[in-house]
Amino acid sequence: MKLAGRVAKVKPSETLAITAKANALRAEGRDVIGFGAGEPDFDTPDHIKKAAIKAIEAGFTKYTPVGGTDELKDAIIQKLMLDNHLEYKRSQIVVSCGAKHTLYNLAQVLIEEGDEVIIPAPYWVSYPDIVVLAGGSPVIVNTLEKDGFKMRPQQLKAAMTGRTKAVVLNGPSNPTGAGYSPDDLKALATVLADTDIFIISDDIYEKILYTDYPFANGLCHDRLAHRLCGGSAGNYRGNGENSGSEHIQSDVYFSKSIRGGSQRRSKHC
Ligand SMILES: Cc1ncc(COP(=O)(O)O)c(C=O)c1O
Repeated sequence: MKLAGRVAKVKPSETLAITAKANALRAEGRDVIGFGAGEPDFDTPDHIKKAAIKAIEAGFTKYTPVGGTDELKDAIIQKLMLDNHLEYKRSQIVVSCGAKHTLYNLAQVLIEEGDEVIIPAPYWVSYPDIVVLAGGSPVIVNTLEKDGFKMRPQQLKAAMTGRTKAVVLNGPSNPTGAGYSPDDLKALATVLADTDIFIISDDIYEKILYTDYPFANGLCHDRLAHRLCGGSAGNYRGNGENSGSEHIQSDVYFSKSIRGGSQRRSKHC
């Protein structure tokens, strides 16, 4: 069977390979902590399980609008307002089936053949493949332990070319746990300020903080906010029930329904 050429460009999932290896070592009786699949070791909270069961029993099992129901979008708008002090409209929110789906969709609408996307390493393994599938080239920036595994502004600057379309920021990060502080973000913002580069902010672990630093993302900086595409999911995850949401502040059209608009800056940035 001849598969499409684009499939050959994508590597087999390293996450699944590492997880399978951890399981095999466990089966041999070895004491192993798996850092492969990005999922917390706690169970889905009871109120979420109950709400899902109640919805299914009430017949909420039919197709919904492609971008998410109004009720869900309103809940996301409320979350962004309460937690992040950001103002969004329904027309700026798209819900998809998990963060990976959200990032895939985002890459498909943003990246053109030959575009480069800067990805600080260590990174969540799917970012490069998502970029490649959209016809882009991942540009990997190796961060250092002595820098707390955070990309320094000089590294970002050195990686930027005329083809740079976007930079991915993920904090707290899978796999390092590193998170960018407001000052870190301001320093990166200074490098990006006079460019058209998009910031893809993967905030999936926003609520899983083991330090007392406050969560912050690129919206901290006025000059960057208008071209930040964010996503957050997975803080309360259980497999198979994730949803990803994407809020976009930019001139990107997405399913012809998303466009930029007003936004308030986070007081906590
Ligand atoms: C940093 C990061 N982004 C995105 C995802 C994908 O999340 P989802 O399972 O909601 O598609 C993961 C999953 O491990 C992740 O670690």
